[in-house]
Amino acid sequence: MRVLDWTQKYLQEKGISGARLESELLLSQILELDRVGLYLNYDMALSSNELSRLRGFIQRRIKGEPLQYITEHQEFWSIPFKVGPQVLIPRPETEILVEEALRVIELERWDEPRIVEVGTGCGAIAISIAKSVPSARVMATELSWEAIALARENATTQDVSSRIFFVRGDLLSFGKAGKTGRWNLIISNPPYIKRGDIGSLQREIRDFEPREAIDGGIDGLDFYRRFFVDAPPCLGKEGWLILEIGADQGEDVLQMMEQLGGFKERRIVSDYSGKSRAIIAQKAGQ
Ligand SMILES: C[S@@+](CC[C@H](N)C(=O)[O-])C[C@H]1O[C@@H](n2cnc3c(N)ncnc32)[C@H](O)[C@@H]1O
Repeated sequence: MRVLDWTQKYLQEKGISGARLESELLLSQILELDRVGLYLNYDMALSSNELSRLRGFIQRRIKGEPLQYITEHQEFWSIPFKVGPQVLIPRPETEILVEEALRVIELERWDEPRIVEVGTGCGAIAISIAKSVPSARVMATELSWEAIALARENATTQDVSSRIFFVRGDLLSFGKAGKTGRWNLIISNPPYIKRGDIGSLQREIRDFEPREAIDGGIDGLDFYRRFFVDAPPCLGKEGWLILEIGADQGEDVLQMMEQLGGFKERRIVSDYSGKSRAIIAQKAGQ
């Protein structure tokens, strides 16, 4: 398919790394074929409408828009998610949070684990847990209505909408009922980039991903400060907290936890590249 070679070359010239794969994914989206299908239909010619859509996609991509916003697709935990500019694109590193959650759920043998995910975005974490644990009941909170609408759509597609309750709200400020210490596990990938560092991020993130999904305040730690105070009253006896952190935030976050109290079994979890990626802790007894 000449158009594939041409697209690859053009993206390469414009400095897009992984240009072959990106060309294949853009074309797959337009032709509604998977990548294998593309090669099986290698001699297929594009209609003028398909060509003009491809040109539109390429223009968006070379302006820095992430591929996933153009194809409206990102896989997470081997589940296809619809994504768009109203949500952060879920990252593979975040899967470690789901792994830790499943480990804790198995360890604690809760009959019907009651889980809160804060800042659900497209619903990746909440939906992955709900699919992996059929007895789980999940409340997914989010500040953005647009994100909630998309997460709901993903939950419906994945057939877990009856077990995920979406709530619009600020962090753990959901209604009084939520504050009765009934939750077994609170999990979140909160915004944690230092505000002053946002300007030097790659343009795909800086100019396209929602600012409220990445801005963690002056020192990047605003959300942890709030979590360590707000989470204990929401958690049941010996409930767990799992939070994603930036690679260089582990020690600061552990220290903050120690100072504020309320948690035991505090531990940093590293990802597969050996970088600190999450903290996990258990609510301390009274
Ligand atoms: C880093 S993104 C994580 C999205 C998704 N959970 C993931 O891991 O891909 C953080 C999310 O938290 C949401 N958020 C930011 N501030 C919030 C707040 N105060 N309360 C609830 N959600 C918030 C953002 O809108 C964004 O969707």
